[in-house]
Amino acid sequence: MTKRIVLVVLMAALIFPMAFAGGGQQAAGSDQIVIGANIYSFADNFMNGVMKPEMERYAQEKGVRIDIVDSEGQQAKLNDQVDVFITRGVDVLVINLVDPASARSIIEKAQRANIPLVLFNKEATEAGVMNLYDKVWYVGTNSAESGIIQGEMMVADWRSNPSWDKNGDGIVQYVLLKGEPGHPDAEARTTYSVKAFADAGIQTQQLALEADPNWSTQHGNDKMAAWLSSSFGNQIELVIANNDGMAFGAITAMKTAGQMLPIYGVDALDQALSHIADGEMNGTVLNDGVNQARASLDLAINAARGANVTAGTPWTLEAATKAVRVAYVAVTPENYQDFR
Ligand code: GAL
Ligand code: CA
Repeated sequence: MTKRIVLVVLMAALIFPMAFAGGGQQAAGSDQIVIGANIYSFADNFMNGVMKPEMERYAQEKGVRIDIVDSEGQQAKLNDQVDVFITRGVDVLVINLVDPASARSIIEKAQRANIPLVLFNKEATEAGVMNLYDKVWYVGTNSAESGIIQGEMMVADWRSNPSWDKNGDGIVQYVLLKGEPGHPDAEARTTYSVKAFADAGIQTQQLALEADPNWSTQHGNDKMAAWLSSSFGNQIELVIANNDGMAFGAITAMKTAGQMLPIYGVDALDQALSHIADGEMNGTVLNDGVNQARASLDLAINAARGANVTAGTPWTLEAATKAVRVAYVAVTPENYQDFR
């Protein structure tokens, strides 16, 4: 063995002591399917709070084993984690890219090892990359849909609340918390939420926009606090957050400043439903992580068995992109109780 391989095996033994204790590459004494999975960052509200627990629960229901590692927001770390999974001989990889532009390296690793690969949540941005390998699929959403739904909610509320136009100029002065630059969800939400106003014939003016690769509550709080105390602080009429986590931080900042403004998020986390109940948030969009988690595992399990990936499942593949896309749903003060 070369030094590098020895190192990788040692690392694997440290990270997956169970697998090595059993002596085999799969769970000891069984032909149980083993899934090697990651979350791009355990610090992410939605990924860690919704997606990960459902993947673990559903794996148990399906009688498969899943090991989910934390890539800590580092693509290089994920690359190493995938090497370790491959060395260990997992049956299938379920991967949440850290950098959506880096799908190629992961796909090529899986292909060289002839292990099926399901990418989920962050869609690869490099054109044609999904066609490099016949055993790679994607599970996520149609990113634009979340922006369209959020935008339509905001337009309807803007129209029925004339007092939201604080300076009465007919223009929506907004600030926007974007999330990860280059992430298809962040990009599409930013474009389509604002486009909904244009489509409705309502002018908008962006006062500020900030991006955060971690989509974090801390970032939402810091930026909103800074905006409220800036020279345009009293001109803000609407806060658009591309996820709930950032919206939560912005809500805290608004409470601290004693200035509550209309605010919308995406994900429909439990805390968002509570904020809607309390009148502190005007809407969110259900990002159905439960069904995305189930679809990811359904495809992975079928792929590990060499079956058609959607066989016996409710999912359908979009032919051109090899993607299963789970629908978004509008969550408003009228219907939020249905999502609790
Ligand atoms: C989005 C979600 C964000 C964040 C991101 C991570 O779909 O809305 O809150 O979790 O995925 O990739
Ligand atoms: Ca205005």
